[in-house]
Amino acid sequence: MATLKAVRGTRDLLPPETELWNRIEATARQVFARYHFGEIRTPIFEDTSLFARSVGEETDIVSKEMYTWEDRARALSEKAQSLTLRPENTAGVVRAYIEHKLGESGQLQKLYYIGPQFRRERPQKGRYRQFWQIGAEVIGPPFAGSESPLRDAEVLEMLATLLDELGIDGWNLELNSVGSSADRARYNDVLRAALVEIAPKMCADCQRRAVTNPLRVLDCKVPEDQPIIDTLPKITDSLDQESKDHFAAVTAALDAAGVPYKLNPRLVRGLDYYTRTTFEFTHGGLGAQNALLGGGRYDGLSEAIGGPKAPGIGFAMGLDRLVLTLQATEPNQDAAPPQVHAYIAPLGENLNAAALVLARELRRAGLSIELGDGSFRLKKSFETADKVARRIVILGEDELQSGILTVKDFSTGTQSKIPRAELASFLAL
Ligand code: HAM
Repeated sequence: MATLKAVRGTRDLLPPETELWNRIEATARQVFARYHFGEIRTPIFEDTSLFARSVGEETDIVSKEMYTWEDRARALSEKAQSLTLRPENTAGVVRAYIEHKLGESGQLQKLYYIGPQFRRERPQKGRYRQFWQIGAEVIGPPFAGSESPLRDAEVLEMLATLLDELGIDGWNLELNSVGSSADRARYNDVLRAALVEIAPKMCADCQRRAVTNPLRVLDCKVPEDQPIIDTLPKITDSLDQESKDHFAAVTAALDAAGVPYKLNPRLVRGLDYYTRTTFEFTHGGLGAQNALLGGGRYDGLSEAIGGPKAPGIGFAMGLDRLVLTLQATEPNQDAAPPQVHAYIAPLGENLNAAALVLARELRRAGLSIELGDGSFRLKKSFETADKVARRIVILGEDELQSGILTVKDFSTGTQSKIPRAELASFLAL
């Protein structure tokens, strides 16, 4: 029988690498807490129409990358429902915002999430079919200040701080404004007109997009199309005065905070819900998939999926890519030092239960303990213990009766006799 393997594009994450994942997540949670974000956990699957209406039918994500299935009706009264594994989490967060009427509090909602997302993309370095995102959204009614350019600048400043605290050196922030939905509609018309003549020279996808959603032409990754795209009109020229002022206020606040950025007028992002500010943080060490994170403002998203007016801004970082970047810059960082305080070696199988009792005592006192097995010879116990723990505690009949345990320290080679009542504090040193 063929051996079963993890499905293409999915991976197992194993210790000690998971230490690094946990460290990144813990740092993110600490930084989010300092900026007063709370955690939201939404379902891994949602109604397919949520993504079609928010991310957009014409995007690569919705048109070809989603894991979608018909959930059959289980009773006559039930209808079959089309469900999709979430390809991203902004849509789910905004759906939850609407469903729980979070806007009625009148407060700005600042929500973060950490979890897996699913896209049927061609797997390569830094690109998986199940990948992890750490993301956050700031959303609320306009009177709560959700449209303010200060929110954009604060989110970007927080990201710069988070990447610095994670130890990611050499990140670049690319910044653009795609304007209001009216600006975008105007720009789409300008692009459509400009593409009439040149689209036939472009790839098949671009030829289709030139008609259905010209903005998506700017996402094209086909190398031969790039020089053609560079000649197209820039979105920055289609912005109205309000959008220009908004963007100028964002960049002025970033300048004041000393957060470096580069303007990139082609950065329209591959999801349809964006308005005004869009951004990506990239890293040279990642190769073709160089975006560490992406995000932007989505002032019309809530209304597009049937909710109240609730402008917002957010981002999602690729956790897999953060891990790759850190592993490349500091190769040994997930080789965690042994943390186990002691290994308990029962001398004989009849002492196994007593060893479990001793391990329970020490673990309840807060120590990390590895428990051996009485069937092991003493030499094997020592060898096993030396690989994982700082010390070995021998538990034989004598030790059990006298309550005095023999402890050997592997780093110094010293052997000590310790009364059981003092063992936990001795091992903690
Ligand atoms: P996105 O640009 O599609 O945006 O994804 C954000 C990040 O997720 C990317 O920059 C990348 O690091 C990571 N990522 C995406 N696809 C993959 C993949 N197949 N394998 C590994 N990593 C991947 C969003 O998802 C938006 N929801 C971000 C957002 C939040 N905008 C506003 N709020």
